[in-house]
Amino acid sequence: MAHIKIENLNKRYINRRKTRRDDDNPETKVGAEVVVLQDINLEFEDGEMVCILGSSGCGKSTMLRMLAGFDRPTSGRILIDGEQVKGPSSNYIYVFQHNGLLPWMTIWQNVELGVRHIKDEEERGDVIQEYIDMVELTGFEDHHIYQLSGGMRRRAELARALAVEPDMLIMDEPFTGLDFLTRMKMREEVVNMHEYIGKTIVMVTHDIDDALVMGDRIVLMAGTPAEVKVSQKILDVPHPRNLEKEPTLCNLREELYLKLGVSHVA
Ligand SMILES: Nc1ncnc2c1ncn2[C@@H]1O[C@H](COP(=O)(O)OP(=O)(O)O)[C@@H](O)[C@H]1O
Ligand SMILES: [Mg+2]
Repeated sequence: MAHIKIENLNKRYINRRKTRRDDDNPETKVGAEVVVLQDINLEFEDGEMVCILGSSGCGKSTMLRMLAGFDRPTSGRILIDGEQVKGPSSNYIYVFQHNGLLPWMTIWQNVELGVRHIKDEEERGDVIQEYIDMVELTGFEDHHIYQLSGGMRRRAELARALAVEPDMLIMDEPFTGLDFLTRMKMREEVVNMHEYIGKTIVMVTHDIDDALVMGDRIVLMAGTPAEVKVSQKILDVPHPRNLEKEPTLCNLREELYLKLGVSHVA
């Protein structure tokens, strides 16, 4: 279970930047308080695939860090299943990280790291195999991470994250650096596994189409400080989604671009 409620969330940082970016703006001075997030209110249902969009630097990663309990809000609170997040809780949240694998170990050994708590060897093996199969790395179990392509590595990272069987998966721009086709495949992979495991996933992406193709809910943050401009459920559009043929998605796409300050979409 992971029902998420974000209430009146505010985050301010003290600017420690040594060089001033803008002399006229008091907020960029060293020691000044920078308001990153202002009055964020959001609610995600259990099992939702949430895609968070927003321009670079608007506070998406900051929000994810607070959701995972790595950072504290300046004011406001985050509730997961009614309980306030006060610190990291590895048993129900898994944060998907780039290069989170140990390169000198095999795929099998890396996935095994997440399931060490399963004492029965056969049962543990079954779980490892299940997730390796799910991300279509069957046959590559004994390959070392350094032997894999970027896309395979990302899939192995996904298998490792899923094997932990967290109640909630947090992903910060998980497709960064992947080539176009691999990215398309990873989208499919994540959508399929989300449908299979049904856990809450909160993913930050800067790609509007990622969000439209994958999300049950799309959240758009914009402005300085960042506010929620859109939080729309699109669960009713079935997968696989065709962006060109689905009017709901076409309209939403245009709206999202406009809200991000782009008026002409190719
Ligand atoms: N630990 C920190 N101390 C000071 N400022 C920070 C810190 N972390 C992030 N910021 C600032 O907060 C803003 C939002 O950052 P971030 O959440 O990483 O944006 P995004 O992930 O949307 O690109 C940026 O202006 C960044 O410089
Ligand atoms: Mg970020």
